Amino acid sequence: MKGFNKKNNILCVDEIQLTDLAEEFGTPAYIYSGSVIKENYQKYLHSLRAQDMICFAVKSNSNLQILKLLADLDSGFDVVSANEIRKALLAGANPKKIVFSGVGKTTEELKFAIDSDILFINIESYSELIKLNQLAVDKKIVVQCSLRLNPDISAQTHEYISTGLKDSKFGLSKEVMIDIAKDAKNLEGIALNGISCHIGSQITDPSILLEVLEKVKICAEEFIEIGLDITHLNLGGGIGITYNQEDEISIENIVSSLVQELGENYKLILEPGRSIVGNSGVIITKVELIKKTENSSFAFIDAGMNDLLRPALYNAWHNITSIEDLDLSPQNYTVVGPVCESADIFGEKRNLAIKEGSILAIHSSGAYGFTMSSNYNSRTKPPEILVEETTVKLIRRKESFEDMVKLEKEI
Ligand code: LLP
Repeated sequence: MKGFNKKNNILCVDEIQLTDLAEEFGTPAYIYSGSVIKENYQKYLHSLRAQDMICFAVKSNSNLQILKLLADLDSGFDVVSANEIRKALLAGANPKKIVFSGVGKTTEELKFAIDSDILFINIESYSELIKLNQLAVDKKIVVQCSLRLNPDISAQTHEYISTGLKDSKFGLSKEVMIDIAKDAKNLEGIALNGISCHIGSQITDPSILLEVLEKVKICAEEFIEIGLDITHLNLGGGIGITYNQEDEISIENIVSSLVQELGENYKLILEPGRSIVGNSGVIITKVELIKKTENSSFAFIDAGMNDLLRPALYNAWHNITSIEDLDLSPQNYTVVGPVCESADIFGEKRNLAIKEGSILAIHSSGAYGFTMSSNYNSRTKPPEILVEETTVKLIRRKESFEDMVKLEKEI
């Protein structure tokens, strides 16, 4: 069995009972299914051609062992900082399969990317292009780049994770791109061979991605007319997952239709994050106490918004279940964390059969879960555990108090 399924009334990850993991590693803890990650990766792979490339978005889950699992499958990586390049390389990534996105890269980061000899640097402003050219000329090399198009298309997702509308800070309009491209042709340190685009995340209407491809292709044709050699089109990430009622999106169907629409002239790069790791992970967390007020029953859990920020930041809905079926009558609970913020709510009025001490799973936490965690309220970060079939691996130990304070000046 792959992924999260109930067996004998207990939620399991692959072949392992979550009750056993809670006992061994404590709560809260992130638990991932390696089988699910592999399965999702294969869905992309099967729908792409040999010349295309999957560059996993490191920002969605940057645990070294997860990156290694993907590097072992020959995945490429989409990074947004020099440290993400370092992490990908440490995990065994092929530098020629790394693309560097990011709207505000520092000079140091650009230098590091050049020295790492990665596949593409995705450029988002004229200043960045000029700066990169100078760095390349100083080193007497030519750097392969793409320009990021802002197509002015709505991703129809939460506004905080929407990046493709013209007033956003991301990318360049087609008109500005054409002007820049004319200059880029004459820049000695730049080989402008690609166009990239990423309009947002958790996209649930796949036709939007086809619309994006259409605009990217038009842009590529205009670049080619200028005399540029455009070999790669990068459509970013964005394919959504099912958190709640969203229709299941078939990665195979959407990727196949993109490939078909693309034609033979270009290589396709995709930068999926959430659709590879999102549903591969849960947080397990203990109900510490139940508190009844006039209008609510609060279930206080030992995970907080510092561990999983998505509900507090985006009002995101995550399924919450008890990992064990208990002989209790279900009631509506508002599931909250201990952090001193009213936004520290994981779910309102969830129907749960639980008591103090019950262990819950907060589902679909594999993407943008641990990577967005913090030490707010001086809470230490939870451990991460990777399960594959019957193998259990602690891939990041629980942070200790000493870990947390060791960078601060001693008293
Ligand atoms: N490529 C670029 C340039 C990106 O900015 C992103 C995500 C991706 C790829 C991967 O997108 P995905 O396939 O994961 O949708 N923290 C938010 C999501 C922020 C996404 C930022 N960019 C959340 O928890 O929903």
